[in-house]
Amino acid sequence: MTIQKPTGFEFWEKSLKSAKYVVAPMVDQSEEAWRVLSRRYGADLCYTPMFHARLFSESQHYRDEQFTTSPQDRPLVVQFCANDPETLLKAALLVQDKCDAVDLNIGCPQHIAKRGHYGSFLMEDWDLLKRMVSLLHKELSIPVTCKIRIFPDVNKTIEYAKMLVDAGAQLLTVHGRLREQKGHKTGLADWEQIKLVREAVSVPVFANGNILYHEDVQKCLDYTGANGVMSAEGNLYNPALFSGKLLPVWQMAQEYLDICKEIPTKTHMIRPHLFKIFRPCLHIHTDMREQLGKVKTIEEFEKIVQELKRRLEETAKNTPSEITTNEDGTLNIPHWLCQPYFRPPLPEPKSEPTVKAPEAANEDDQSLKRKPLDNESPKKNPKPKKIREGLCSHCKNVASVKCPFQSCKQCCRKNETCHQCETHNYKKSKSAKITEATSNGDEEPTAATAAAV
Ligand SMILES: Cc1cc2nc3c(=O)[nH]c(=O)nc-3n(C[C@H](O)[C@H](O)[C@H](O)COP(=O)(O)O)c2cc1C
Ligand SMILES: *[C@@H]1O[C@H](CO)[C@@H](O)[C@H](O)[C@H]1NC(C)=O
Ligand SMILES: *[C@@H]1O[C@H](CO)[C@@H](O)[C@H](O)[C@H]1NC(C)=O
Repeated sequence: MTIQKPTGFEFWEKSLKSAKYVVAPMVDQSEEAWRVLSRRYGADLCYTPMFHARLFSESQHYRDEQFTTSPQDRPLVVQFCANDPETLLKAALLVQDKCDAVDLNIGCPQHIAKRGHYGSFLMEDWDLLKRMVSLLHKELSIPVTCKIRIFPDVNKTIEYAKMLVDAGAQLLTVHGRLREQKGHKTGLADWEQIKLVREAVSVPVFANGNILYHEDVQKCLDYTGANGVMSAEGNLYNPALFSGKLLPVWQMAQEYLDICKEIPTKTHMIRPHLFKIFRPCLHIHTDMREQLGKVKTIEEFEKIVQELKRRLEETAKNTPSEITTNEDGTLNIPHWLCQPYFRPPLPEPKSEPTVKAPEAANEDDQSLKRKPLDNESPKKNPKPKKIREGLCSHCKNVASVKCPFQSCKQCCRKNETCHQCETHNYKKSKSAKITEATSNGDEEPTAATAAAV
């Protein structure tokens, strides 16, 4: 007996309640506490961070650490990266009773995704994509959806989108950027392509890219005809983006911490959130920036929030808080209100768009500085080697990819043999020194945390 599944539009209307305002999947950043906050401020639908399908299916520890939810946390889409149909199915079956759809990440452009052959590096492997999507469509009780990037040739993007829908995808999120548009090459997303995909397929489409202000949401819906708009960076800097509110940074930060008291949240997720919320004022209150990079407990985070509140309230009282519009349409918003961040334009290659683009990599956020995984360093590894992901042989953390002893950093530190391995000889490594100086250094980068975007 085969169950008749709802069509894409039935699924969007009933399960997703015709969601228009969508919080993007974000590694370590669209965690449960953040979803609760975002929903309070107008998000209709949230995605979990991307989970690594194989680790998720194999490790209870990984699942418990990465995925928490509750009955109120709906509608919810759980996202995986994968490159094997059976593994993806195994992972998806573990969540199908706790969410409304399972999404396949075909957009991740990072080096680690190239090494692991997933995310946007599957854009050429249509056969594999078809097999993954159709297996989930056939075997899951809930729909499968895909989040894609675009090709330079819009006709190819359309053909690609249709292929995924034919395989069973019941909804597509189109991030209107090419695989190459990442880091300082992020540039603008192409809404025209999103529009043409929307016109070409028979399932709902979410548009993703170029959302900085509340006003952009409606503009994007109008331009693309998409059924919903997904925001990542804009939501991180202003979690109330969908509501149109510009609230004081301290209020938003405190509300988030209050939620974290109810829903235990990892320090390595809290810290980058606070760095982003406070971004507009931390270059003024640089001492607080330093503090924020060091502290570890909710109580300590709260002290920082309260101190910033004291200072910023004082400033707000004595300063006119007018919002003005610049010539290029961007807004001047007082530094104590939640607002988008613009990456300063780089004086680099001519072929690049000169427009201001929101930062994608947060390179200057202390919070995100960490020792790169070895497979992220192109100089050290000019030729891709076979990826050896897996769990630490001493504990249940994720092992560092290149450690010959298959250890994680914590276990390595305790063990002199492993300490000397190329991967974990962190005392000699320059980047490791930066990590130790600027972060709490207690987090082993996992396959997932390294895979943002
Ligand atoms: C911190 C961060 C983490 C991200 N993690 C993911 C992820 O896990 N899965 C995914 O499909 N995209 C991820 N992305 C990409 C976003 O979902 C989104 O496609 C991209 O940022 C463009 O949207 P924006 O212009 O609203 O930021 C991430 C982006 C950021 C900034
Ligand atoms: C895409 O296809 C349409 C219709 O088949 C055609 O008119 C158009 O020229 C094509 N565009 C490109 C960029 O190839
Ligand atoms: C140290 O690591 C090596 C290699 O993984 C292992 O063989 C050894 O048992 C470890 N020693 C301790 C004390 O954990």
